[in-house]
Amino acid sequence: MAAVPKTSNDKRWHDIYPELGTDPIPIEPYTSHEYFEKERALIFRKAWLNVGRVEQIPNPGDYFVRDLAVCKTSILIVRGKDGTIRAFHNMCAHRGNKLAADTSGSCKGLFTCKFHGLMDRCGTSQTKPVSSISTNKPSA
Ligand code: FES
Repeated sequence: MAAVPKTSNDKRWHDIYPELGTDPIPIEPYTSHEYFEKERALIFRKAWLNVGRVEQIPNPGDYFVRDLAVCKTSILIVRGKDGTIRAFHNMCAHRGNKLAADTSGSCKGLFTCKFHGLMDRCGTSQTKPVSSISTNKPSA
């Protein structure tokens, strides 16, 4: 067995932080579905998530999609005609079908739902803004 590393003052870490104990590390955080659901609700639904870079969508109408499994959603990030970058749920307002099936592209003015043909002006009028994700209270 490898020797436990010591600190610069020649003490073992558990001498300095006895509250951490010396028991084996629990495996529940890595295997428990309930633990993961708590992390999803209390961390990932509240924290800023890096989904891309502005350079990915340099021109008005450019977009990319990120499927965020940890948030159980697909996000559509679009540079609008005014140059502002906005993020929306990638779903039509009718039944939640994906508006953009591609991972990236350039919107020619409208996103069209492939199912019933409901249209949305490049993610501005009918899609749900992503900001609403962070305001949703996680179900405990
Ligand atoms: S499911 Fe998208 S328009 Fe009906």
